[in-house]
Amino acid sequence: MLKVGLIGCGGIGAVHAKCWNSLGEDVQLTAIADLDMQKAKRCAEGSEIRIYQNGFEMLEQEELDVVDICVPTFLHAKYATVAMQYVKNVIIEKPVCLNEVEARQLLEMQAHTGALVQVGHVQRFTNTYVFLKKLVDSGKYGKVVAGNFTRISPRPLWMKGHDDINKTGTMAFDMHIHDVDYIRYLMGGEPDYINSNAVRDKNGVVQHIWSSYHYGDTVLTVEGSWDYPAEVPFCECYRVRLEKAAVILDSEGVVYLYTEDGKTEVFHLEDRIEMDMGINVSDMRPYLSEIQYFVDTIVKKNYQGAASLNEAVASFRLIKKELELVGLDVK
Ligand SMILES: NC(=O)c1ccc[n+]([C@@H]2O[C@H](COP(=O)([O-])OP(=O)(O)OC[C@H]3O[C@@H](n4cnc5c(N)ncnc54)[C@H](O)[C@@H]3O)[C@@H](O)[C@H]2O)c1
Repeated sequence: MLKVGLIGCGGIGAVHAKCWNSLGEDVQLTAIADLDMQKAKRCAEGSEIRIYQNGFEMLEQEELDVVDICVPTFLHAKYATVAMQYVKNVIIEKPVCLNEVEARQLLEMQAHTGALVQVGHVQRFTNTYVFLKKLVDSGKYGKVVAGNFTRISPRPLWMKGHDDINKTGTMAFDMHIHDVDYIRYLMGGEPDYINSNAVRDKNGVVQHIWSSYHYGDTVLTVEGSWDYPAEVPFCECYRVRLEKAAVILDSEGVVYLYTEDGKTEVFHLEDRIEMDMGINVSDMRPYLSEIQYFVDTIVKKNYQGAASLNEAVASFRLIKKELELVGLDVK
């Protein structure tokens, strides 16, 4: 049986707790930690889970096989570097870090301990994005020629200090990174070069960003913003032109495949598990898939590297580059 400890029981931590609890008897959430004991108790409700206020104490006291880190972003690297010294398998929310010093510490600690680390780049496990990746990898419709990825959200008011570059890294590191990481995954690595433009608010905080990713002759654009009024529905969409087809994910979560021979296919892939997460997403399915993938990797020892620490650090570095291109200095 895999014994799991969870640190951070806020919006996404509560979702992860539900995922761990739904994986059957071979996986057990045995301990959780949150500074806010009310949140920890809410996550533990109806079970025998041991509760801690201090995540480091939990790591010291418990014999865990897996630790899941869902604390605010500025604490990811701190908790993850310590967790790797206690536990073999670590799953960390994204972005994995906020500066280059942390990036190096994480990579060095992983090299030193040999810990298996997966990062919460959940797009890699989301059905509608898995579909596109498989389609491109199959080569059936040729290479990617052009495309656009969009992620638009109302303000994440539940997140303390959401516009603080030192706490969340702002929209670019928190939200826009999902698409940047996915583009790297889809295209199999780093772009030849990127361009970025941004709109900043009166405090200089980047609220909208548009970047272009160049891979040879292929250009992919990516747009992110969380500066929309509360009533605007969350939107994650893509539109990708392949040599012999076009694939579109619309804002309702439906995928359309238009082929050069005049056919249109419609795919309802989401397989939603509805849940009130208190955040700007309501489908638990992608998180369950991501956690199931991690468990399979541990149990079957078949490491395939999706959402690895190396990948997450590379995605962090691209966001850093984007921000530098729009005039911000990220350490
Ligand atoms: N992958 C995704 O789709 C996704 C979605 C939402 C959030 N996230 C990421 O998850 C992280 C958390 O986001 P959230 O929305 O759940 O935030 P949140 O503020 O709702 O939750 C954070 C929790 O951590 C607790 N906490 C703070 N400091 C702590 C400490 N030192 N020790 C233990 N617990 C502590 C807080 O009390 C809170 O319960 C962020 O990095 C965010 O980017 C990822």
